[in-house]
Amino acid sequence: MEPGRYKSKSPGSAGLGLFVLLCSSLLLNALFFAHHFVWASPPVPRLGDDAAGGGLSWALQAAREAEAVAAVDCSGHGSVFLDGIVGDGEDGRPGCECNHCFAGPDCSVRTPNCTADAESGNPLFLEPYWMRHAAASAVVFSGWHRMSYATTGGGLQSVELERHIRRLHRAVGNAAVDDKHLVFATGSTQLSNALVYALSPEGNAVSSSPPASVVATAPYYAAYKMQVDMFDAREYRWAGTTATWDKNTSRNSTGDFIEFVTSPNNPDTALRKPVLGGSSAIVDHAYYWPHFSHIPEPADEDVMLFSASKLSGHAGSRFGWALIRDENVATRAAQYIKTSTLGGSRETQLRILKLVKVILSNLHGAEDIFAFGYDVMRSRWHRLNAVVSRSTRISLQKIPPGYCTYLKRIKEPSPAYAWVKCEWEEDRDCSEMLLEAGIISRSGVSNEAGSRYTRVGLLKTEDDFDVLLERVTDLVNAEKHGQARSSAM
Ligand SMILES: Cc1ncc(COP(=O)(O)O)c(C=O)c1O
Repeated sequence: MEPGRYKSKSPGSAGLGLFVLLCSSLLLNALFFAHHFVWASPPVPRLGDDAAGGGLSWALQAAREAEAVAAVDCSGHGSVFLDGIVGDGEDGRPGCECNHCFAGPDCSVRTPNCTADAESGNPLFLEPYWMRHAAASAVVFSGWHRMSYATTGGGLQSVELERHIRRLHRAVGNAAVDDKHLVFATGSTQLSNALVYALSPEGNAVSSSPPASVVATAPYYAAYKMQVDMFDAREYRWAGTTATWDKNTSRNSTGDFIEFVTSPNNPDTALRKPVLGGSSAIVDHAYYWPHFSHIPEPADEDVMLFSASKLSGHAGSRFGWALIRDENVATRAAQYIKTSTLGGSRETQLRILKLVKVILSNLHGAEDIFAFGYDVMRSRWHRLNAVVSRSTRISLQKIPPGYCTYLKRIKEPSPAYAWVKCEWEEDRDCSEMLLEAGIISRSGVSNEAGSRYTRVGLLKTEDDFDVLLERVTDLVNAEKHGQARSSAM
């Protein structure tokens, strides 16, 4: 030990020491306050050594959970989801959710004589595309992501998403966006009623004028009538099909018309225009994307509807948008959305932003979603037609090929639905006849097209389509045998 180390200091050096101590304490306090209040960042929990590796900390556990469920083998006939039902197994993880007609813990068992369910428009044909783009399309967000009612700029809509949706329409060339306002909603389903409200007579005008008449041309998407009937407001009412009013000379005296137009149409997939001149039209372009339709030109109606459900296939995210020319109509539609839900989910908007970015970055490339979707849907239509062309009992709608300005070539048909007509006199209820043949479809009665017609969905999983094709083939083959038998008798 050094001699004199603990010797007491002189009064002068003690004062200097005290001064230095005071200064460093002040500096430390200043640093502490600056760190806490000026550069304050949320406290980030660290989850272990991995953080050092990739610079990640709190996102790792969630990423591991997401990857663990995605890696479970469901034999290619099902999926595991993070919020699926946790089984009794030891791993405490959710189990496989099997596609229709498949069963067993790993979905490897095909249900014998299974009925094909082609009733809905569930757009799962795009699921394999997103599996191929698992890394690019994954979204990670913190527990404190956008907790506020307000988003950037104090509004309810993601400004960045709005910018990207406009970019997408410009790049695909399916809608003119430059002179339009953009209104988001929880699916375009919510928007269809918001727009009926927005186009109906305002305030005082309601008492002096009759309610707006909401119409559509048959066969039409049944949800329009269901919504108008359900919300049954004093501003508007369902007034049937356009055929009733088309040549009706007293039309002007019955007040305003709001015409729903779907193009391509659901259920018969035809490209359509409004038929009642001079009335307001809500043009639903849910299927006006190159995987379902050729794109002759950018749509440019005053009020247009689009849906993520049919663009990217994310029906469960519940996201739709309207492009509206008139500012007052846009304000009223936005007011409806604000009053009913205070805007669409911010998590959904983040997810759709990511998906739109992936779509944009792959346009015209080897992984173009529209080229992928077109190939799938064209092949399904082609295979279905090959079978049905042998039938005298059922027929499908005719769809002419058309030049697609996006694909820059003539596009073969690739519709979302088959609009089936029963040709035999005795098959008055076409949906019932198909059901007996093991196919669930949606009767044309709900579209005011009559029971001779029924809609068959083609946009579900490949498994769904395979079963559907088997049942249709059985039906057509039985018809051939039946005819052979009857001609032999
Ligand atoms: C013509 C049409 N519009 C809207 C929708 C619903 O869209 P969303 O899922 O955005 O509510 C559908 C769904 O099948 C549809 O066929």
